[in-house]
Amino acid sequence: MEKLVITGPTPLKGEVEINGAKNAAIAILPATLLIDGVCTINNLPNISDVQICCTILEKLGAKITWNTPNEITIDTRNIITTQAPLDLTSKFRASYYVIGAMLGRKGEIEVGMPGGCNLGARPIDQHIKGFEQLGATVTVEKGKIHAKADKLVGSSVYMDIVSVGATINIMLSAVLAKGVTTIDNAAKEPHVVDVANFLNTMGADIRGAGTDVIKITGVEKLHGNATYSVVPDQIEAGTFMVAAAATHGDVLIKNVIPKHLEAISVKLIEIGATVEEYDDAVRVSSDHRLGHTQIKTLPYPGFPTDMQPQIATLLALSTGTSTVTESIFENRFKYVDELTRMGANIKVESNIAIINGVTRYTGARVNAPDLRAGAALVIAGLVAEGITVIDDIYFIERGYEEFDQKLRGIGAQIEKVSDEKEIQKFILKVS
Ligand code: EPZ
Repeated sequence: MEKLVITGPTPLKGEVEINGAKNAAIAILPATLLIDGVCTINNLPNISDVQICCTILEKLGAKITWNTPNEITIDTRNIITTQAPLDLTSKFRASYYVIGAMLGRKGEIEVGMPGGCNLGARPIDQHIKGFEQLGATVTVEKGKIHAKADKLVGSSVYMDIVSVGATINIMLSAVLAKGVTTIDNAAKEPHVVDVANFLNTMGADIRGAGTDVIKITGVEKLHGNATYSVVPDQIEAGTFMVAAAATHGDVLIKNVIPKHLEAISVKLIEIGATVEEYDDAVRVSSDHRLGHTQIKTLPYPGFPTDMQPQIATLLALSTGTSTVTESIFENRFKYVDELTRMGANIKVESNIAIINGVTRYTGARVNAPDLRAGAALVIAGLVAEGITVIDDIYFIERGYEEFDQKLRGIGAQIEKVSDEKEIQKFILKVS
């Protein structure tokens, strides 16, 4: 199992390029199943979730050419089966998008129940509700989901809960349906808008993405014959913003859309960091201990739940007492135990973390319980005095391209290692 080994404290200084958004890419890739044609997608993040997604598409019959590590040309004219590989679909969450896309394209699909970070129950009732309202029959048994529809007819779907996945999935199933579908109480995340923009580029008719109500008018087919560039990753950018502030560094974060980062920028400025916005970049710096604040995670444009572990790690080093309320997932504080071992003073009561700021972290051997918690522990390691080892970085590699290389590029003393011998070599090198 690969690990990350870090020594700190080290202020991050320099420039870093942000990749395409994971949560847009792993929805846009299955969306290509709706296209009876060939298209090119670039600015794909080179991460394991994208690789798994492409393998699933190939097993369904897609032909994929990797033009670069971040660009593919995909031919989905010849989809040969309605059986997705069960072992792969349970490896990550976004496999459920194959359902919406294949219902639209073939009218049938069988996939394994989706996997992904263990943040709570993560049911898919809203996805199923949408599919059934468009005329599909969905059964869930023995860890598999089977969906079938002789004909999909547009309908008005009201989301009982704001759900990124369900919003995107219903959009996918509505693109080739007969008539008009409206999704009320829709998620407005940048990656929801990106999927809608991709589909419209390929010939779909989707209006209102990014607002509470999305209207999809069914079309005969999607033509492809276009190139699409994935939106920059709001969460990767936010992670580097928090890392720059936490390490009292000065980092220019490039290839971003500042508007998507507003909730994070506002909070960093509120606690005393400096955030400068440019057309496609933000610069974050801080030269003193930061202050406390209250955070509540909310659907976009609120503070993103995927930034919750990272901001909590920063607030645990700030003055005073902060609170972080997790209102999206039931179980997203698993990293607190690990952070406590590095010196944090955090008490979790129900879905609220009460954080009493400490002046320093000390290095420790920790485990990454999920993707964003792993990123947060890397930030803690960059600030901690001494050596931090993060075991099992599989989760981190799912969502961040070349995370250690990018951090080294802005001054971090961090290496990816595979055994204890290499850890000792690193310790000798830095001591
Ligand atoms: C997406 O997950 C992201 N994953 C998550 O990012 C992100 O945290 C989440 O959206 C919220 O922004 C991908 O896009 C692959 P939801 P998703 O449906 O779609 C409940 C990361 O780190 N719900 O918006 O699964 C659900 O349990 C990952 O990149 C239902 O009750 O999230 C949760 O409490 C982690 N029924 C809330 O809604 C449903 O049918 C929001 O979930 C669907 C969801």
